[in-house]
Amino acid sequence: MDSFQEIFRKNREWAARTKKNCPDFFEAMAHQQNPEYLWIGCSDSRVPANQIVDLPPGDVFVHRNVANIVVPSDLNCLSVLQYAIEVLKVKHVIVCGHYGCGGVAAAMSNEKHGMIDNWLRHIRSTIRLHKVTLEALSSDEERTDLLCELNVIEQVRNVCATTIVQDAWDAGQKFSVHGIIYSIRNGLLKDMLHVGVGDVETKGIDFPKLLD
Ligand code: CO
Repeated sequence: MDSFQEIFRKNREWAARTKKNCPDFFEAMAHQQNPEYLWIGCSDSRVPANQIVDLPPGDVFVHRNVANIVVPSDLNCLSVLQYAIEVLKVKHVIVCGHYGCGGVAAAMSNEKHGMIDNWLRHIRSTIRLHKVTLEALSSDEERTDLLCELNVIEQVRNVCATTIVQDAWDAGQKFSVHGIIYSIRNGLLKDMLHVGVGDVETKGIDFPKLLD
């Protein structure tokens, strides 16, 4: 069986298994979605949103792109953010990065990668901001991992700065924006920072300059 047909075989098995375990599952899904989380993550195939937090369909509204970047000119990402906040009224917006991110590593290298370099330019400004700290590290792996963390923080800032989030917070809507990072090596998430209405809390990580 070729790998494309494999998708349908696995889908039929999954649908049957899900219905067996929970007979009302698809009936309930068909009526509405009511997720509490918006997940903004990397497209990397090793970081599937629902699977790594062990949540079923219906629980996570998801947007993924290369290197989990949020920029105010990206109508795709902004549309997802607007729908999640204004219609779904999610309680948590999560920016999830991951260590060893190929997009982040590519942004740091001086090689050309074609069209995607235009997208990764958004990370270059973060590199410029933290040039001294990054250059002080002894290996490319350490530099990439720190930049993966810094990129998450930068994208949390970008989420918070959108008119969508600002307007919702001004109107008194309650939700938080979180920055977390995933380790492909051990499957664990690290909580990095949390921004609510007018408050910022870092989770044992010292990034004061980034939060002003
Ligand atoms: Co990645």
